[in-house]
Amino acid sequence: MTSPAHSDFDDCPDRRGTGSEKWDLWAGEDVLPLWVADMDFQSPDVVLDAIRTRVDHGVFGYTHEPPDFAPALADHLRRLHGWEIDPALVVATPGVVTGLAITARLLAEPDDEILTFTPVYPPFLTLPGLAGRRCVRLPLVPAGDTWTIDWDAMPAAITPRTKLFWLCHPHNPTGTVFSRGDLLRLADLCERHGITMVSDEIWADLVLDEHLGHVPFASLDHPAAKRAITLVAPSKTWNLAGLGCAAAIVPDATTKKRWRPAGGGLVPMVNPLGYAAAIAAWRQGDPWRRDLLALLRQHHALTAAAVAEIPGLSMIGAQATYLAWIDCRETGVADPYAACVAAGLGPSDGRDFGTPGFIRLNLACPTARLEAALGRLRQAFAQ
Ligand SMILES: Cc1ncc(COP(=O)(O)O)c(C=O)c1O
Repeated sequence: MTSPAHSDFDDCPDRRGTGSEKWDLWAGEDVLPLWVADMDFQSPDVVLDAIRTRVDHGVFGYTHEPPDFAPALADHLRRLHGWEIDPALVVATPGVVTGLAITARLLAEPDDEILTFTPVYPPFLTLPGLAGRRCVRLPLVPAGDTWTIDWDAMPAAITPRTKLFWLCHPHNPTGTVFSRGDLLRLADLCERHGITMVSDEIWADLVLDEHLGHVPFASLDHPAAKRAITLVAPSKTWNLAGLGCAAAIVPDATTKKRWRPAGGGLVPMVNPLGYAAAIAAWRQGDPWRRDLLALLRQHHALTAAAVAEIPGLSMIGAQATYLAWIDCRETGVADPYAACVAAGLGPSDGRDFGTPGFIRLNLACPTARLEAALGRLRQAFAQ
């Protein structure tokens, strides 16, 4: 199934015993872990070499943004998404989740409301409460071969306490890439109600459909876009989550100045190896990214074919990400997650995303492992 260009993606190191969150969950059991969103692939050589060079330097003192960090990100955003940013707006943060948590504290008061589309990556649901703010959920609606925004539900969800919109764009878990038209409509709403958009674009480099393209929210020609905060990272695309390096693009100078204090002394600096990896990935990682996308398209097709053959299962194909969001509600199985685990397949549980009855599969593993996992998916729902 894989072409020679994909050989890097067949031969993966054994992650057991390395402290891998993904592999340790069912350590010692015969369960294939296709849950948390990291990949089983090694990062590209260009990234590994940059880390080795930084290690050879041998001094790992307190480190802030190296001079090429923001320019490397700016070049990457221009090349991939046609978005020109001022590198001076970039703040490094050890994670996108950290960035979201900071915006809750920085741009909303206690009991203020943060809107978000569901189902969604679990921290979107839990972080507002941890900050003493409220999460308001707006369900995405399945419409044919895509998920759409329920515009009719929007007015009732917005109150004078709505201060932030946390957009996951492209969306995890549905893989939806929001169109320019949808983004402009969201921008109008934000402008009308004084809401600040925080756009988590961690998945932006993994758009599967070449014709679709990712439109960064903050790149829109709109006043709400000029105020929006964008969160990005090289971690999903080049498998660097454990190195803790992400970035916020913060257009307002006052907000940018208050960014670090809003962490309340709890947020560490980004580590030097994370910076080295990020710069190399953004500057030199594109050929590998394109090979990865070719493999992921095959994996999505394999998964869609398997799902279509299992009675009661259905899915709307992702437009981005290496995630498959599978509707199990018609199978008659009360707990699809438990049924999968019993069959030796470890998915993410839809309940964690605000939607019971669904599972999420992470397809970023060698093809043979995915095929074995899909076999177990069949067994899980065999009548
Ligand atoms: C939408 C989204 N945002 C953020 C993250 C995690 O980001 P970080 O590891 O930089 O905190 C993930 C990880 O899966 C994600 O899917």
